[in-house]
Amino acid sequence: MHNPIIVALDVPNPEQALALAAQVAPAVGAFKIGKELFVSAGPDIVRRIRATGAAVFLDLKFHDIPNTVAKAVTAAVQLDVQMLTIHTSGGTAMMQAAEQAAQEAAHAAGHPAPLVLGVTVLTSLDAADLAAVGIAGGVGAQVERLAALAATAGLRGLVCSPLEIIALRKLLPATMQLVTPGIRPAEGGKPDDQKRTMTPRDALAAGASWLVIGRPIYAAANPRAAAEAILATL
Ligand code: C5P
Repeated sequence: MHNPIIVALDVPNPEQALALAAQVAPAVGAFKIGKELFVSAGPDIVRRIRATGAAVFLDLKFHDIPNTVAKAVTAAVQLDVQMLTIHTSGGTAMMQAAEQAAQEAAHAAGHPAPLVLGVTVLTSLDAADLAAVGIAGGVGAQVERLAALAATAGLRGLVCSPLEIIALRKLLPATMQLVTPGIRPAEGGKPDDQKRTMTPRDALAAGASWLVIGRPIYAAANPRAAAEAILATL
């Protein structure tokens, strides 16, 4: 089995990100670079983490017209990232443009294509929030609608809440990669601001392909030991 742990490098500067990555790299499968670190440290932090040999998940959640998203995906491929995110609510043409750009840019650069992951409904939104922006029918139905649309558009992966995995596995092709945040270890796992969590082992049993883990690793007294302890439960 591949190491499914993706550590979120949710730290404000490149020095902290590189130190954390060096410390935990032997115990994890990849690192996630999100908006805070990317906006403060720029694309150079992606190159520097990649230069350590680690896989990178660039979590910038692109959502724009298809041409703009395709160009952003092409730029991400040139940074040699292994995973990136787009919003499925950008629609079929945007998703197809992102996947096509990932394949073509990777082919031109001689890399494997990164996994373009679709984000469905942000977990910060509830049914009332969706209704306010004109989406009736609730969160579950909208997640399933967008997940099915992503599969039809040719995406090979989705980001989802651990509590959505079982329902999504029933409607998606078995090859679809599911990446889930909201993971908390069974022993001493503080929920922080996550309201709906699952243990790493349970999320994999439900059908997750990758686990995004932030604070339980980076905020631990010993991040390497915390990552190893999680790995040992899998
Ligand atoms: O610290 P924690 O393990 O909660 O970090 C989870 C990571 O996954 C963070 O980078 C957070 O932004 C991201 N994430 C999330 N929930 C989502 C989508 C992304 O927690 N629905």
